[in-house]
Formats: sequence, structure tokens, C-alpha cells
Amino acid sequence: MDNSLLIYYFSGTGNARNVAQWFAGVATEQNIPVDTIDIARTGRKNIQPPAPGALVGFVSPTHGFNYPPAMMYFIFRFPRSQGNSAFLMNTRAGMKISKWFLPGLSGLALWLFALVLLLKGYRIAGLRSIDLPSNWISFHPGLKEKVVESIYEHCKGITVAFAKKILSGKKVYTAFRDIIQDLLISPVSIGYFFVGRFILAKSFYATNACDKCDICIDNCPVKAILTVDGRPFWSYRCESCMRCMNNCPKRAIETAHGYIIGIMCLLNMGIMVWFWQGVGKIITIPADNGWAKTGIKLTGWVLTFVVMVISYRIYHYLLRIPVIRQLFYYTSGTRYMFWRRYKPSHKMISRLP
Ligand SMILES: Cc1cc2nc3c(=O)[nH]c(=O)nc-3n(C[C@H](O)[C@H](O)[C@H](O)COP(=O)(O)O)c2cc1C
Ligand code: SF4
Ligand code: SF4
Repeated sequence: MDNSLLIYYFSGTGNARNVAQWFAGVATEQNIPVDTIDIARTGRKNIQPPAPGALVGFVSPTHGFNYPPAMMYFIFRFPRSQGNSAFLMNTRAGMKISKWFLPGLSGLALWLFALVLLLKGYRIAGLRSIDLPSNWISFHPGLKEKVVESIYEHCKGITVAFAKKILSGKKVYTAFRDIIQDLLISPVSIGYFFVGRFILAKSFYATNACDKCDICIDNCPVKAILTVDGRPFWSYRCESCMRCMNNCPKRAIETAHGYIIGIMCLLNMGIMVWFWQGVGKIITIPADNGWAKTGIKLTGWVLTFVVMVISYRIYHYLLRIPVIRQLFYYTSGTRYMFWRRYKPSHKMISRLP
């Protein structure tokens, strides 16, 4: 039997990667052989099984109350246990107001994948959320540096304490404290997986400040940015990890809030109204026919999705016209200087590329 430790992580802006490294640091102090592996670099195919008996850790950000798809698919494909134990951690959107540290929300993130690993024969040694600063800057401005430093210091202590317990053979299931709220929020996790994440992925664009350095393209962990018509183009592979937007040296990546609001209004007030009126003219659905109602609702969702896809192509094409590009630019909240980019703590991290 092996006493080594393997930690697999996925990280957009560095939070999960730092948690993995803090944990690994504790193992190194105790002379436990440890490897930290970035799953974006290893790929999902032909994952080597861990040595029999080794402890395996999975660390990932939380996206839409779940693990991001890159980590999901990785765990689904992960080899079956050979007498292994596993722990799962998720970094969440922590905040600090006055002297209080506020937690994020995990939803299905830990539960679903603890179940998958259990079914693969792993013993679950620990489940822990770490509330590092929120990096979701297409949604809100990044936190101030001082707040980031303070949250980082707080979370490092929590991670180290958790690592010491797990490495001493204890079982730590801190996540059970949140189980009720996590289950209540699980329908949103499902909605985000099937719809929300695609809308978000389409909200990025490069402004006139882009000098085509390709840094965003080269560093995207899931290779989601393509070059179309000589400009970066965000494909549906994008996991909204926020790395590109936070790291662009020209601050040239923005979120098209105006476009997203516009297309939502068009869908809700125009296209969908037209769709429901059309349905009403063709068929009358009896009030008690649940199946027919669900079918029509699903068709409505598919139509919404198709309109989103078509509209994004049009939007990307329109971005070539300078005056329209300016229009999108002026309606993007992220262009204003108060909308800070997120940088993990300068003192306590290893920075991502
Ligand atoms: C698209 C997106 C969705 C997010 N959803 C959640 C969420 O559901 N719950 C939460 O607590 N934090 C959420 N966050 C915040 C991140 O999980 C958090 O900031 C994490 O620590 C980032 O880790 P990373 O730097 O390793 O990518 C979200 C962030 C992004 C970008
Ligand atoms: S990193 Fe910024 S400047 Fe470089 S190609 Fe991407 S958007 Fe353009
Ligand atoms: S395109 Fe940007 S936000 Fe999307 S996955 Fe790649 S680096 Fe992350």
C-alpha cells in the first residue's frame, strides 16, 4: 500500500490552485510524497489510476452551484478505486463585510461528485468548501486588494487545518453544515449547467484595445477562444472561468451587458410572445395535460437557445463595424474603471500565467 497524495485541481484565476498547493505544502512538511496536477494540462483521456491505497484530492472552483464541466468530466472518467480514499474541496465566492467573512454557495458541487467517487469505490475522507474571493467579474467588480489579502489569509489557515486533519487519518465533513441550502439550490445548478453557462460564455468580446497578442487564446484552460475574422472569438467551450478577462494585459476583454440585456428583452417580449401566440392559435392544450405543457415549455427553451446561438453570430459579425463596437462598449459595465479585475492575493499565491 502507498501513502502518497495526489491532488487534481482545476482553476480559472488561481484560488483553487492555491488551495491545492497549501494542502500539498502540509503534506511536504510531513514528508508525504505529493503531486499537484492541473487537469487542464493533463487532459481527460487515459487518466492514470492512482497507486493502490494513495489518497486522492479534487479541488475546483464552484460555477453555478456545481463543479465546472472540466472537473465534472474529469471525475466521471477517473479510474475506479484500488483501496483509495478521496477528499473533495470547492473554492467559493467568499466576501468580507466589515470584519465578517461571508461564505459562497456550493449547491451540488461536492455532493454529486462525492456520490460518483463512492460509486467508483473510493472512501470519502473529507468534504470542505473554502470561501476565497469571488472572481466572477462579469457579474460584479473584483474585490479590493486589501479585502482579497484578508480573505486569503483567513482561508489559508482553514485549508492548512483541514489538511492536517485529513493527513492524520481523520474524516472531516464540514460541508454537511450546508447540506440543506445546497439541496434547496440544486435546481438552479441544473439550470445553470444546461442553459446559464452558455449565455455567459457568449458575453465576452475584445475591444479596440486588443493588440492580438494571443495571451488569452494560449492560456485558456479549455482552449475555448478561437480567432475568427482576425479577432478573438469566444466559443461555447468557454467555462466562464474568468482567466482571460482578468489577465488580458490591455484590459481589452469586456462583458457585453447591453447585448445580453437586449437579447433577453427580445426573447421575453418579442420572440417568445410570438411563439406562445402561435402555439395558442394552432392547438388548445387542456389544463390537465401536463405532458403537452412540458413539451411546449421545452420547445420554448430550445427556441430560446437557437435564437441565442444565431444572435451571437450576428453580434460577432456586427462587432466588426466600429460604431456598433462602440455601442456595445458603452453598454458594458466592465469597461468602467471602478469595475476592478480580480487578482488573487499578491503575497500568498503562485500566479497563473
Ligand atoms: C461563472 C462563475 C460562476 C460562479 N458560481 C459560483 C457559485 O455558484 N457559488 C459560489 O460560491 N461561487 C461561485 N463563483 C465564484 C468562484 O467559484 C470563486 O471565486 C472561486 O474561488 C474561483 O476559483 P478559481 O480562481 O480557482 O477559478 C462563480 C464564479 C464564476 C466565474
Ligand atoms: S489577451 Fe487581450 S490583447 Fe491579447 S489577444 Fe486577448 S483580448 Fe487581445
Ligand atoms: S475563454 Fe476565458 S473565461 Fe472562457 S474558459 Fe477560456 S479563459 Fe476561461
